[in-house]
Amino acid sequence: MNMSQFNFWMPVHVHFGVGITKNMVNEIKGDHVLIVCDPFLYKCGTAQGIGNGLTGKDVYYFSEIEPNPSTTSVDKCAEYARANKITTVIGVGGGSSMDVSKVVSCLITSPGSIYDYYAGGKQVFKKRTVKLILIPTTAGTGSEVTNVGVFTNVKAGIKMPFVCGEFWADCAVIDPEMTYTLPPAVTASTGMDAFCHAIEAYWNRESLPLCDYLAIGAMKLILENIQTAYAEPNNTAARGAMIVASLTAGVAFSQTRTTGIHALSFPLTTEFGASHGLACAITLPAFTRISTEMASEKMQELAQILGFRDVNGLADGLEKLMVSLNMPVRLNQLGVKQEDLPHITRVGLGAAAQMQLTPATVNEAAIQALLESIL
Ligand SMILES: [Fe+2]
Repeated sequence: MNMSQFNFWMPVHVHFGVGITKNMVNEIKGDHVLIVCDPFLYKCGTAQGIGNGLTGKDVYYFSEIEPNPSTTSVDKCAEYARANKITTVIGVGGGSSMDVSKVVSCLITSPGSIYDYYAGGKQVFKKRTVKLILIPTTAGTGSEVTNVGVFTNVKAGIKMPFVCGEFWADCAVIDPEMTYTLPPAVTASTGMDAFCHAIEAYWNRESLPLCDYLAIGAMKLILENIQTAYAEPNNTAARGAMIVASLTAGVAFSQTRTTGIHALSFPLTTEFGASHGLACAITLPAFTRISTEMASEKMQELAQILGFRDVNGLADGLEKLMVSLNMPVRLNQLGVKQEDLPHITRVGLGAAAQMQLTPATVNEAAIQALLESIL
């Protein structure tokens, strides 16, 4: 653990409470509010439930956000927001809607397209003046407390992260009620995504003490509650614990970034259709095993804190947990074949900044071997 020097900066005001999304009018800046969500959250009334509580405000909805949101959706949403002179953007959903909201809240007052600022674009956002509020509806992404968005870059045909100091939200509103209707499969995959955030912050080559403690707390909460939240969707205690765990893991990885698990998830989502959580969790046991290469002592300590005899026991335990949640644990269950592995390896290694934070050798041979071990 690096005790000699570290920096921690997480400027998002967090509000937590059951039912608090029903009345957020005091949080709104100006009179023109845009709620950004996916079609499902609009059709089922969740987005309107938030909008209806904003008495006296003009509420607009953009409900076309897709999983792995595209740069095209970001630009379309920004145009809609500019046309309606939006003063507060509320991102409601899993990572996709919150990530789009981060960029849109900047594009309202900065000209042009997302491409002018991202993926080689040379412009820099002006200081954001539109208020940004993020409301997670899954207990997984942690996007509400990070300054990162991940987008499908339509021009390049790949998923790419976008990190920007203007993306820290003004506030994150955490309401466990938002997760009560999540289907079990989504509870499982998003919950394991949160576990990945925590363990990747912990074993990260840029880990820092504050984040280690947050990460350990998040992992314990997830291991203690995910099966209950999965089997009993209405168990409010388990739901509350899971969304706190996701938030806590989010704060941890907001400082460290993620590692090889997330780097390899990009090709598995864009090319094999796995949800983000599944695409991450499937390599979690294998990365846990290789983490001993450079973080042996620290990982041994973690394994024992979490109730396992050693790191291999932890890796086996995580795999068993995923099986109990009916999640795939082999790449062939996602349709991946042996001949796909070199390509997945290359795309994963392309996310070099993340990959290099893994506490193990991460060259082509090592990643190919890791993938073969779980084919
Ligand atoms: Fe993630």
